[in-house]
Amino acid sequence: MIDHFTITVDGKPVAAKPGETVVRACEREGIHIPTLCDDKRLDPAGACRACLVEVDGQRRLQPSCAWKATPGQVVKTHVTSPRVQRHQDVLVSLYMADHKLDAEGLPVETENRNELRRWALDTNPIALESVEAPRVARAGDTNPYIQYNPELCILCARCTRYCDEIEAVNAITLTHRGSETTIGTAGMRGLLETSCELCGGCIDTCPTGALIEKKAIGILPQQIERKVRTTCNYCGVGCQMDLNVAKVDGVEKVVRVTSPPPGETVNDGNLCIKGRFAYDFIHHKDRITEPMIRKADGKLHAVSWDEALKFAAEGMKRVAQRHGPESMGFISSARCTGEENFLMSKVARAAFKSGNVHSCAAT
Ligand code: SF4
Ligand code: SF4
Ligand code: FES
Repeated sequence: MIDHFTITVDGKPVAAKPGETVVRACEREGIHIPTLCDDKRLDPAGACRACLVEVDGQRRLQPSCAWKATPGQVVKTHVTSPRVQRHQDVLVSLYMADHKLDAEGLPVETENRNELRRWALDTNPIALESVEAPRVARAGDTNPYIQYNPELCILCARCTRYCDEIEAVNAITLTHRGSETTIGTAGMRGLLETSCELCGGCIDTCPTGALIEKKAIGILPQQIERKVRTTCNYCGVGCQMDLNVAKVDGVEKVVRVTSPPPGETVNDGNLCIKGRFAYDFIHHKDRITEPMIRKADGKLHAVSWDEALKFAAEGMKRVAQRHGPESMGFISSARCTGEENFLMSKVARAAFKSGNVHSCAAT
């Protein structure tokens, strides 16, 4: 069985794998084709028509996000096809006629990026009269995390497909008909009254910022100064997350948590409700940020890590001497890393000669 073959894109040879779509093969070669409804975690929908290309032998332009590459196929993108470029210019204009624009007449920037804005900057949109779409949001949805703005929705269905194909809960769906089509729930209930798990994956996949995180409202992508990659410790899976840091009132703060892109880490672009939204504790005023020891006055006093570790070690040694190693028990957690659990086992078995070591993962 062949493991790859060659297609031609804009006159250049491009390697493709059997079953692969044209857009995926091009992506690997660094050939940019605009997309809106495409997400590599989801089955192709071919819904937005942004990625249309010319394929030799095909009368109509074809969606490269859904069109499978075949050996010897010849493809032209907007770079070499004036027909594709014309299509893109008109399509962007139509999307923009039904989208919230800024003072410069471009699709507005949002807290969760806006790929339509990026694309509009790469094309030559025609100024069309704007239409007021009668799409509605879910009035009275009091969920604490997710906000839907129908003015920014392009009905690409990435959110509903994510909710179905990845999260498998079908809390949201395309509802109503014609120009009233919107993202709704059963009976247009608030998300808390549906099967929604508040994973936030719909925010992550939304290309235009029609879905945004309520807690991060007002913080635009360009305000993010850096992203710090870390491992989520709410459970033992080891999902990777990026802590987005921005200056708020002159102070650096974690203002949202995002996942690394799909395909890069074990969680493949996904996070759960805790990983994505439960970060308020980081800057909470009650958070204990330094070790403390209860001293002779009965009160807790902040001390250095060296002093705290010495104090704990001496206390543990006294217990072992007085009552023997079997009097001691060491409990670790699935929320710690494998290395931390290994070290806990070492402390118990090698340092204190006790076999009483356990992890909540074992129960
Ligand atoms: S938060 Fe997750 S479960 Fe809820 S609607 Fe969005 S994708 Fe579906
Ligand atoms: S809310 Fe976002 S992801 Fe969902 S259909 Fe609208 S634009 Fe697409
Ligand atoms: S990205 Fe191909 S049709 Fe939307």
